[in-house]
Amino acid sequence: MGNNLNKDLSLALQNRRRGNTEYALKILLSAFEKDPADVYVKYNLAATFGDLGYFQRALELCEELVSVKFHNFHVFLVLGRARLGLGQTEGAMKAYQRAKKYNNSEPILCREIAQLTWMMTGDKKETLKVISEFELSNFKGPSLKVLEAEILGHIQEFRKQYDLLASLMLSFPDDRQLQYLYSRSALKNREFEEALSYSSLIYENNKSNSDVTIHHLNCLMACGEEKRAKNVVESALRLHPRNQHLIAIQAIIWRILDDSRYRQLYNYDLFVHQQPLTTPSGWTNLESYLTDLEDSLNDLHRFQSHPFSQSVRQGSQVSHINKFADKALRAYEQALKKNIIEYLNRAVGKDKASSLSPSVSSAWSVKLFENGHHTNHVHQEGWLSSVCHLTPTNSQGHNNQGCLKLGEPGFWTPRNVPAEKIIKPLRGHVVIFPSYMWHGTIPLIAPAERLTIAADIILKDDI
Ligand SMILES: [Fe+2]
Repeated sequence: MGNNLNKDLSLALQNRRRGNTEYALKILLSAFEKDPADVYVKYNLAATFGDLGYFQRALELCEELVSVKFHNFHVFLVLGRARLGLGQTEGAMKAYQRAKKYNNSEPILCREIAQLTWMMTGDKKETLKVISEFELSNFKGPSLKVLEAEILGHIQEFRKQYDLLASLMLSFPDDRQLQYLYSRSALKNREFEEALSYSSLIYENNKSNSDVTIHHLNCLMACGEEKRAKNVVESALRLHPRNQHLIAIQAIIWRILDDSRYRQLYNYDLFVHQQPLTTPSGWTNLESYLTDLEDSLNDLHRFQSHPFSQSVRQGSQVSHINKFADKALRAYEQALKKNIIEYLNRAVGKDKASSLSPSVSSAWSVKLFENGHHTNHVHQEGWLSSVCHLTPTNSQGHNNQGCLKLGEPGFWTPRNVPAEKIIKPLRGHVVIFPSYMWHGTIPLIAPAERLTIAADIILKDDI
């Protein structure tokens, strides 16, 4: 590798580490043009494509690396991720198993194999068995058990998670990461006072960390401490004014405290619109586009269970669908953009709307199975959020099953804060709403499936 390539590579790595992934990609693409045979550039380009959801490009580069015998832990890990992103579950597992041959004590890989096992089988025992197949002796301190606790939470074994963390706390009482996880688990198990005592301690030392702050706010709200929460959220919003999760918590505090500012934010008539998706060019009518879209998405939904850390329950999720080469998937962004312009014209007026530059930041698809639902949540990184329903269910006689509900918070509170708006899914209709708006779905009761595409929209100035 020449000096210039070396410089490019280290600059790209620096930017990737800092989260400037798009810029890192630009540098790597230019380095790749200079020397397409350089395996280090090629590997980093593959990894960066994968980070950004360009799974096909990541896959092709990794396969080239494998074909020239550039075999190592990292190449097989990135190959596994790319295959998983493309819905190639068996191939992803094979790549992960090859990575494991190079390093069988790496927590990241252990977590990813456990997640893939969970997504492929939905089997709790099989998922937990993955941990026992890694080389335990190389893990230091509580980290392996912490990983086990994290996985227990993802597969909804909340009590077992809490018991495991409580026992670890006896051995490692000063471990900050452990205290944080314990507090989160206590909250999940409705041990509200216990959760708050630890969240207060952690928050005092990490006031600038938005995730720590949000957890502390969740604990305060669960204990009915809205006035304390009000001060905490106001300070946090001064540091993170665009954090939609903080705005969402503040809105519920206003609602409980009868503050009129709540209704300005949660003005459903003005800010929540349901409209038919625009037919993208290349299709003569919406129905023919929806049929193609459904076919493409059904081909990708090969999972039995949800990925870790998502709001979906009893469902399959495919991410970055706007980055796929498939014609129908690529056209979705173009179709949605026209709906966003219509939304903005109505919500803020044509003059203001014309000065805004909205852009789709991410798009993903969810297929819910029987009993499937989304827990109440917000989209922290978005500005506007959207969901397009493709196979809505007939909710008659089934308590609005599969419907979208808005306004009910995703945290515990002793106050009465029910959903305020229920939207019945209509095939080919897209619902657009602000990303700070709490939303979830009513579980599917009857045997049914519910296929949707969700997307977040940001303003170009935010990039
Ligand atoms: Fe959502």
